[in-house]
Amino acid sequence: MAARTLQLPAAIQDYIIGLHCHFTTLVCLTFKRRMTFRSIDMPFLAIHITLCPAYQYSTRRYRALRFRARSRYAGGSYNKEYLTTTQYQTSVKEPQVKKKTPEQLRSHRWYGAQDMRAFGHRSRTAQMGFDRSDYAGKPVIAIINTWSDINPCHTHFKQRVEEVKRGVWQAGGFPVEMPAMSLSEPFQKPTTMMYRNFLAMECEELLRSYPADGAVLMGGCDKTTPALLMGAISMNLPAIFMPAGPMLRGNWGGATLGSGSDTWKYWAELRAGNITEKDWQEIEQGIARSPGHCMTMGTASTMTSAAEAMGFTLPGAASIPAPDSRHAAMATLTGKRAVDMVWEDLKPRDILDADAIHNAVTAVLAIGGSTNAIVHLIALARRAGVMLDLDLFDALARKTPLLANIRPSGKYLMEDFYYGGGLRAVLKNLGGLIRANAKTVNGKTLGENIADAKVFDADIIRSIDTALVKSDSLAVLRGNLAPDGAVIKPPAAEAQLHQHTGRAVVFSDYNDMAARIDDAELPVDKDSVIVLKHAGPLGGPGMPEWGQLPIPQKLLKQGVRDMVRISDARMSGTSYGACVLHIAPESFIGGPLALVQDGDLIELDVPARKLNLKVSDAELARRKAAWKAPAPRYERGYGAAFSQHITQANEGCDFDFLEAGAETPDPEIH
Ligand code: FES
Repeated sequence: MAARTLQLPAAIQDYIIGLHCHFTTLVCLTFKRRMTFRSIDMPFLAIHITLCPAYQYSTRRYRALRFRARSRYAGGSYNKEYLTTTQYQTSVKEPQVKKKTPEQLRSHRWYGAQDMRAFGHRSRTAQMGFDRSDYAGKPVIAIINTWSDINPCHTHFKQRVEEVKRGVWQAGGFPVEMPAMSLSEPFQKPTTMMYRNFLAMECEELLRSYPADGAVLMGGCDKTTPALLMGAISMNLPAIFMPAGPMLRGNWGGATLGSGSDTWKYWAELRAGNITEKDWQEIEQGIARSPGHCMTMGTASTMTSAAEAMGFTLPGAASIPAPDSRHAAMATLTGKRAVDMVWEDLKPRDILDADAIHNAVTAVLAIGGSTNAIVHLIALARRAGVMLDLDLFDALARKTPLLANIRPSGKYLMEDFYYGGGLRAVLKNLGGLIRANAKTVNGKTLGENIADAKVFDADIIRSIDTALVKSDSLAVLRGNLAPDGAVIKPPAAEAQLHQHTGRAVVFSDYNDMAARIDDAELPVDKDSVIVLKHAGPLGGPGMPEWGQLPIPQKLLKQGVRDMVRISDARMSGTSYGACVLHIAPESFIGGPLALVQDGDLIELDVPARKLNLKVSDAELARRKAAWKAPAPRYERGYGAAFSQHITQANEGCDFDFLEAGAETPDPEIH
């Protein structure tokens, strides 16, 4: 029989120890006075007891325990704030409306029927170690995870997916991880853009063909964000985006390094002979120091910020650095929210309307975002049946200030941006330029989500009065060289090149450029206009990020660091320079860029939004008649399908059959 022991409360134990100390002191005092305790000793004893650390400690602890016990039993206010102000509860609208019953869940068609197929679904779920109680009547949340060993920007997704699952479980859902193609920007060739629509299709069809009620979309590296959102918009199940978050700042000998931007910069310095091969190797080791996507305002940071501005993430999610503990917490909260979105039946096309697109474009302009966002946002909008064209970008650019002081347009990096207040602070500083009533995934409006945003560093996140650039952080150009438009990022170009006329130095494709650009005999000077053909959606193929055409080595050695360069390519958001991009229609299909010849005069006028080839119409007609279409890039496979259906840059480069149209029906369960 187990011995019974008396357990006194800890506070009482402490109190007894304290009294024991006092009693011992008293005995010592009386012994010292030959056992004659006198009344004169009483005040001394009282002071001793009051000052005794053991007495004070036991008294404080006793009071604390008594207060806690009273609060608990009285339903009082002990630590009430702790219970009511978690990030999730404050970021989600209350009360939530439950619009579905368990029987109305999409997954119920797989799991709930009384037939042989449902038996198969349940028995195979049991095979994975689950009990019916794990999933019956619960929203199945598909977690589309773009983790891959070949994608350095998503290395933390193996851990993050567990945190998303934790949130789904906690909210009463059933998480199911579904891996999808990763689109690793540094490694995938010819370009990840070739596969953006592929991932979009994969996302859409994963959600359609499996018993998903809702989705968490895990992306961040450049094209993964638009691809996952495009697929989710087309499928239109409740979906929330979990951005990968930027990596930490790069470092080289104490100098801060930014993804991409400093690669271009120091590559030019290496070619100019200003740094050594050893310096270059040290930069290689220090420029990417942690998980997460590029930490300049490249395409990744631009598109995750656009996703947040459109309302597809929890508030503040896009700015959190990948290794930060808040990122892990955000992942869990995202999983939780996905479950509630299913019950509320809050779907992507409830969120993505003209206001959301307006906010995304405005946000991209205010953060000095990548020109790639133009192509992606047009494609996203078209998936939802919302009209967006280049003219809206130009119109909003004329009145939107550049507020985020982030490279390549500014000075800092995304880690600084987070500490400075993040995207919410930028959106708040934009005031009336943002459409505050736009819906978001947490059930609140964008205006509600940014109402309490604060700026912690006014140099990183500027006000409208202290904007880096008052307007025109982007310009859409037209003219006889770009009838369907071209784009340039004026703040990233040297100001004297905004209005420039120069003679063309033409390269027929990338290989031609690579072979001749550093030729000492190349007839080029600082006023020349470098032209690259066959770099568009079909010509690249995939419209690669070649648009920051290299400056010839002989000019680099003369100190030239910027020139007017034009192409039908895209450009990395981390790049800079007077680069005219996205010329449409592209040269591969006979657009006017195909007709440019060495020595032609080209006129760029950014304030007037003009890009013209100073060649007579008659001469251009003669050249057009003599132009021969190049052989197709692909005869079979995905490349052939890509070539048959890709649209031009001004149309978003989506596949024509994926743009808005009749709904695709859910599969029958047979
Ligand atoms: Fe992944 Fe830049 S390489 S975001």
